[in-house]
Amino acid sequence: MTNIYELKRKFLEIFRDEQVRFFYSPGRVNLLGEHTDYNGGYVLPVALNVGTTVCIGKREDNKICLSATDLSELVCADIENLDAYRKIEWGNYQLGVAYELLKAGYKVSGCNMLFDDTVPHGAGLSSSAAIECATGIALIKVFNPDEEINRVELALLAQRAENQFVGVNCGIMDQFASVMGKRDNAIFLNCKTLEYKYVPLNLGDYVLVITNTNKKRSLADSKYNERRKECEKGLEALKKELPGITCLGDVTVEMFESAKHVIKDSIIEKRVRHVIYEDDRVLKAIDVLNKNDLVEFGKLMIASHESLRDLYEVTGKELDTLFEEALKVEGVLGSRMTGAGFGGCTVSIVHKSVVEDFKVLVGKNYTEKTGLIPDFYVMETDDGSREIIDGF
Ligand code: GLA
Repeated sequence: MTNIYELKRKFLEIFRDEQVRFFYSPGRVNLLGEHTDYNGGYVLPVALNVGTTVCIGKREDNKICLSATDLSELVCADIENLDAYRKIEWGNYQLGVAYELLKAGYKVSGCNMLFDDTVPHGAGLSSSAAIECATGIALIKVFNPDEEINRVELALLAQRAENQFVGVNCGIMDQFASVMGKRDNAIFLNCKTLEYKYVPLNLGDYVLVITNTNKKRSLADSKYNERRKECEKGLEALKKELPGITCLGDVTVEMFESAKHVIKDSIIEKRVRHVIYEDDRVLKAIDVLNKNDLVEFGKLMIASHESLRDLYEVTGKELDTLFEEALKVEGVLGSRMTGAGFGGCTVSIVHKSVVEDFKVLVGKNYTEKTGLIPDFYVMETDDGSREIIDGF
């Protein structure tokens, strides 16, 4: 994590203020349950040991001033006029959170905020959720000291900022993982009810290796919205046969198999099939992880990638190449794309003793096949949003 003394020095340089506090919220990687959250299904993310740290100090006026360690920009917004900042190039995620907090009845007053991110940008590891949730916890704690933080509410509020203020359609998984993360645990979340359980992740001699395709995710937004619409169509069709359902998350494999004939469009049928079987894989994964059976868990990850490739069609050459090359390395239990797809990262479970081989072999073959150079991150799980006191 960022050296907070450095951050404080930088804050002092920009804002000339020493009365500061530090807050932090992590990025995430999803281990299983992809493109299920907006269908009211199941997900299994972990919070990572990379994230956003924010240094915050109060101001006398009614402005929120934002800067970041990797930007020379300073954005100052009037709290009464946050609406005007929806489309700015940088800072709208933070201001969206302030806007949603005010709407929800929290107090927000003038402040300076300096952001420092260690989540790689554009990699599908939820750098935006980390920024939103760090902003949220900072503004709540600084301006609402008597308020008991409702963490689920914070995640929902951060999601609203992204959906409604910034205008990016995402589910609840990323913000939930960022706020609720727990070291050495995955979060098993029912995205319909928001009921959740921590599932111990005992990796033993294995580590999580995240591999970045470094492909620009140009299609991600439009294809993401297209998939959402396809799922809605599938749901409408299934309702004819299954009138009680309100989302695809309500549909079990058995229900789907008995009702699927009402989906006449074969593309829609494939999309829905992915969601239904992916939910089922998450349920199986909970049992498997409780038995500490990483081999079986790896198989579920592989099946998930194949389904995202063949049925949901959100992978592409780069992610598929990383997936195939990863599985050729001895000591790899499983691998899959993670996040929205169309670029971004894969996550693999790799034996500690072969991590270096993994990087060399996967890296070389991936570059040969795609012309791109991947990045590898060996990451650990971490806790969710929190205040950093005395450097910890
Ligand atoms: C993105 C979204 C999430 C989720 C995933 C796909 O990361 O932000 O809400 O929909 O894609 O599982």
